[in-house]
Amino acid sequence: MTTKERTVAVLGAGTMGSGIATVTGRAGHRTLIHDLDGERVARGVDTVRGFLAKSVKLGKLTAEEGEAAAARIEGTTDLKDLANADVVIEAIIEDLDAKRTLFGELDGIVGKNTLFHTNTSTLSVTGIAAGSSLPERVVGTHYCNPAPLMKLVEVADGRHTADWAHQATIDFLASVGKTTVVTKDRPGFIVNRFLIPWENSCIDALERGLGTKESIDSAVTGALGHPMGAFKLLDVVGLDIHQQVATRLYEQLRDPKFFPPPMVDRMVAAGDLGRKTGRGFYTYDDTRLFGS
Ligand SMILES: NC(=O)c1ccc[n+]([C@@H]2O[C@H](COP(=O)([O-])OP(=O)(O)OC[C@H]3O[C@@H](n4cnc5c(N)ncnc54)[C@H](O)[C@@H]3O)[C@@H](O)[C@H]2O)c1
Repeated sequence: MTTKERTVAVLGAGTMGSGIATVTGRAGHRTLIHDLDGERVARGVDTVRGFLAKSVKLGKLTAEEGEAAAARIEGTTDLKDLANADVVIEAIIEDLDAKRTLFGELDGIVGKNTLFHTNTSTLSVTGIAAGSSLPERVVGTHYCNPAPLMKLVEVADGRHTADWAHQATIDFLASVGKTTVVTKDRPGFIVNRFLIPWENSCIDALERGLGTKESIDSAVTGALGHPMGAFKLLDVVGLDIHQQVATRLYEQLRDPKFFPPPMVDRMVAAGDLGRKTGRGFYTYDDTRLFGS
């Protein structure tokens, strides 16, 4: 699968879906983005185009490469348009029933060799795979956010994942320029086991007045070598998503380090979700994920 152009369906045109579609379109795969309504689809496609345009502006892609990648991206609200997909990448809301139902619906639309990838952060891959009549084709592929910039994807097999699906997944991810680590189908996989408590401790430090958001972010990039400060990253992730992921991991692992600090609840209640609402820890004129 490394050189061949594939048809990829990305389900969910939100933060992760638009980021993953950027990755697959840029890598040469025809990419269809699906969401529940036209407005969300259009916003997702616009986010991909915005990222590609920014990459051209920064000299990371030539104008021709940017245009070719943008031409590979299409949007749809009709699942039937995904019939020719070789790979389906699910990045919808973190809800077990919704993910299961979607995979069940897709069983009747795509071919039986189509790979089903789920980008869940906290749910069981095995539980999601149970929604498909062919659970052997379902693999957990957990992308890091922002997906177009972060190279690593965690790969977790469900209980019934077949060897062919696992290997095809590793090959597919290599074809889109990702490196993979194989982990187990356990809450938080590897990365969120240490990322979520670390983000919580940065928020806690802010809440206790140990520094400003700017000084804590500078400490993170300057001392720990992270490409982005904790609060810049949380604004990209979305405070609602952080709250949900952290709470779910706490519920499953019963370790207080996963529990989100109270500031997260206040920000979510106020609608300060990060870049997507124009205000989180920082403020943004451009609410697109990779806007200016
Ligand atoms: N945000 C992150 O940092 C991050 C990182 C890794 C994994 N994840 C996981 O990725 C998934 C998506 O997260 P996100 O941050 O992109 O969320 P998001 O809220 O930005 O986007 C979710 C999108 O899914 C759409 N959707 C909901 N139900 C749908 C359905 N039945 N069919 C099609 N589309 C549907 C919504 O309309 C929305 O546009 C979640 O499972 C999340 O846990 C998130």
